[in-house]
Amino acid sequence: MNLSNPEVSNKIKQYWCERAGQTDPASLQATTYDVYLRELEITKLKEKISAASLPHGSTVVDLGCGDGYSTMSLASAFPDVRFIGIDWSEEMLTLAEKKLSVQLDLLDRVSFRVGDMRSLSSSLQAERFDVFLTMRSLINLTSSAEQYNTISQIAEHLKPGGYYFCIENFMQGQNNFNRMRVTMGLPEIPVRWHNHFFEEEEFLVETSKFFDPVIIDSFLSSYYLATRVIYSAGCHLMGEEPDYFHPIHQTAGQLPVIGDFSPIKLASMRRKL
Ligand SMILES: C[S@@+](CC[C@H](N)C(=O)[O-])C[C@H]1O[C@@H](n2cnc3c(N)ncnc32)[C@H](O)[C@@H]1O
Repeated sequence: MNLSNPEVSNKIKQYWCERAGQTDPASLQATTYDVYLRELEITKLKEKISAASLPHGSTVVDLGCGDGYSTMSLASAFPDVRFIGIDWSEEMLTLAEKKLSVQLDLLDRVSFRVGDMRSLSSSLQAERFDVFLTMRSLINLTSSAEQYNTISQIAEHLKPGGYYFCIENFMQGQNNFNRMRVTMGLPEIPVRWHNHFFEEEEFLVETSKFFDPVIIDSFLSSYYLATRVIYSAGCHLMGEEPDYFHPIHQTAGQLPVIGDFSPIKLASMRRKL
């Protein structure tokens, strides 16, 4: 496993803090430019949390919650569940608190804490929770060693039988959609400097130490094929820049899932008893 890099970590934190500071509190793009993709992620998580049939008063922890948009969307859908959002960027959490302050129905069961997901006991002490979520946040850790160490801490803070729904990026899907792009005469999209993607085989080995089952779902595969390959090829032909608000992004989520063309996948896991 590759080595962690504290200097790059600090730069990544700075990137998110600056991005939050420059974002209009009313904007939906504090944490991602592809807001339609995030809606598909939230819909998928709603299905998963619903299927978990959580008892009244359960608590879900959203690690790397950013401006809390997803945390609050999910909280609105589960009125009997408490949600805690954690992020290392105070600036992101300032946006989250602003959004929360006008959602009066959520005030008594949604809260945000500043914390680094690499040392969970600093923000969560010895408490154990029913569900953990990560949505494109573990990919900000600079090495597989840090990522798997964080996953082991998540397992420690989960109740036996608790759920971890992990929406993160994997190299296999990235390579697959890039191969399709090259076939269409498009350049590959590189992994961004502040991201470190998982390798699927290693992920399965590492997570199986704590979780059973571990099921990986490439639910955004058709979305990526439609938006990052077919739509991009059209833009290329027309000499236009792709636009995240083009209606293709709004509609591509309705396609049935085919293939393995998305870097972003959902790993659904259950803490061993
Ligand atoms: C791509 S954003 C995703 C935010 C949110 N999960 C969403 O889907 O909208 C990644 C978030 O993870 C946070 N993050 C990255 N590394 C972190 C760490 N070590 N501890 C806590 N938060 C972290 C960043 O500050 C940022 O808000």
